[in-house]
Amino acid sequence: MQLDLSPEHAALRAAVREFAQSVVKPHASAVDHDHRFPEEAIQGARELDLLGILVPAEYGGAGLDHLSFTLCIEELAVACASTAVIVDVHNSVACEPILLFGREEQKRRWLPAMARGEILGAFALTEPGSGSDAAALQTSARRYGDEYVLNGSKVFITNVGHAGLYIVFGRTGGDHRAGGISAFIVPGDAPGLKVGQVFSKMGLHGSPTGELVLEEVRVPAANLLHEEGKGFQVAMRALDSGRIGISGQALGIAQAALSEATEFTKERHQFGQPVAMFQGVSFMLTDMATRLVAARQLTYHAAVLCTAGKPFTREASMAKLFSTDAAMDIATDCVQLAGGYGYVSDYPFERHFRDAKALQIYEGSNQIQRVVIARELLR
Ligand code: CAA
Repeated sequence: MQLDLSPEHAALRAAVREFAQSVVKPHASAVDHDHRFPEEAIQGARELDLLGILVPAEYGGAGLDHLSFTLCIEELAVACASTAVIVDVHNSVACEPILLFGREEQKRRWLPAMARGEILGAFALTEPGSGSDAAALQTSARRYGDEYVLNGSKVFITNVGHAGLYIVFGRTGGDHRAGGISAFIVPGDAPGLKVGQVFSKMGLHGSPTGELVLEEVRVPAANLLHEEGKGFQVAMRALDSGRIGISGQALGIAQAALSEATEFTKERHQFGQPVAMFQGVSFMLTDMATRLVAARQLTYHAAVLCTAGKPFTREASMAKLFSTDAAMDIATDCVQLAGGYGYVSDYPFERHFRDAKALQIYEGSNQIQRVVIARELLR
């Protein structure tokens, strides 16, 4: 595996870093404090084609690979983790399923507006009774002539309320588990589609998360994604890529916390010297830096495998497991290194700590990542 970034990848990272630091980061604290959608950041992301990273140029996107996608999410997350997850979910689990499983007319109908960022995408799999056990979902999708009628409740949906398109998973019959599930493209303004509670969360305050209620939502049969009964494969394949994106988000949060803690401990003097000069502190910094490099390698490797069309389910889960645990531990240690300043909201440490926690939970908890890795190892 090539460990150095190509000149094109390095240039992309530099451009997104410049954008993230100058446009996204200045709003991150206020977005968190006010629990508001990061409109300025998302508008800037639209202008930089960051809402169509993986979408080929023929459908109006940037047509970049998964390593580029990872670098973009990582750099956004250094600046603002809420912005990163909004962009990540849109690209990986909303655009990509259409790209991979959509028919030509579906790609032409939806992808250009998604790539321009006029339509934000979301992924509606989880239900109140089915989280880790996604195949137990109960939303029904019954076919009547040329349309399907969807009824059910979804929960913990990222981008809820702001999305103009939801990839919705419902049960079309037959098999009571994965084999009975189908995927649908549901426009955000479909009659009967309602946003329920939008949650107040521990972190990621700029990223809306909530319930989606479907009451007699009629979608044309032309909006069926892939084949009837193949929706679970759509969900699992989307989540494989999604987990690379979440890993990129983890790298960004961990990098931000570590960089800021390094600067803080160099400037903060106690007992007549910078606290970074105490070996106990410098060893904490070195351990964090080492884990971050390892997490980055795992994540970039999964991204390269994905682009190469090689199996990457196991590597994506390993990257997600390792990088999000690393991000949580690093964010926690950085709060500790900043002492009282780490615990107050005038400094960014406590925000990184709150934001990092979500990553161990969503797009498959880290317990589920271990299930996926174990199955791949043992089969
Ligand atoms: N790619 C393609 N197909 C896959 C696959 C993959 N990675 N993994 C499994 N499948 C297929 C299997 O081949 C199988 O197909 P066949 O029946 O044709 O053989 C089918 O899917 C069922 O597979 P399993 O028997 O392995 O399914 P399972 O019920 O045992 O569940 C699981 C597997 C890994 C636990 C899965 O349920 C899972 O990933 N759970 C976590 C769900 C999750 O990540 N939810 C997050 C939702 S999104 C979110 O967090 C917020 C947001 O807004 C983005």
